[in-house]
Amino acid sequence: MTEPITHTLTVITPEGQVTLNVPDGANLRQALLAADLSPHGALSRRANCGGRGLCATCGVWIEANAPAPSHWHDRIGAAFGYPRLSCQIAVHAPLLVRLVPNKIIWGKPERARRYRAQSPE
Ligand code: FES
Repeated sequence: MTEPITHTLTVITPEGQVTLNVPDGANLRQALLAADLSPHGALSRRANCGGRGLCATCGVWIEANAPAPSHWHDRIGAAFGYPRLSCQIAVHAPLLVRLVPNKIIWGKPERARRYRAQSPE
């Protein structure tokens, strides 16, 4: 029997760093919520789209191994330097994720954080 593939998810929070092991293909938002590391802000914790890619309140910074955005809303956010939509990211590699601190609803853009679309290899 083969071992299931898992990936290390390192999460930088305002309180420190947390390391999780998640199954290959895990939804990033679900993995964060399951570990009580909500990607949502104070107001959007209860009022959000539930992972449908509509509200943009689940954004996180991907600091390493950022996957190319595949969802239209995540693609636009990535192009303009907004945090990535955690609900639209499947974990297929180790990721270093930073929660957006002091987020009320959405995180602010950072031009230096633009994610370049990666072409399939
Ligand atoms: S939870 Fe609404 S866009 Fe991710």
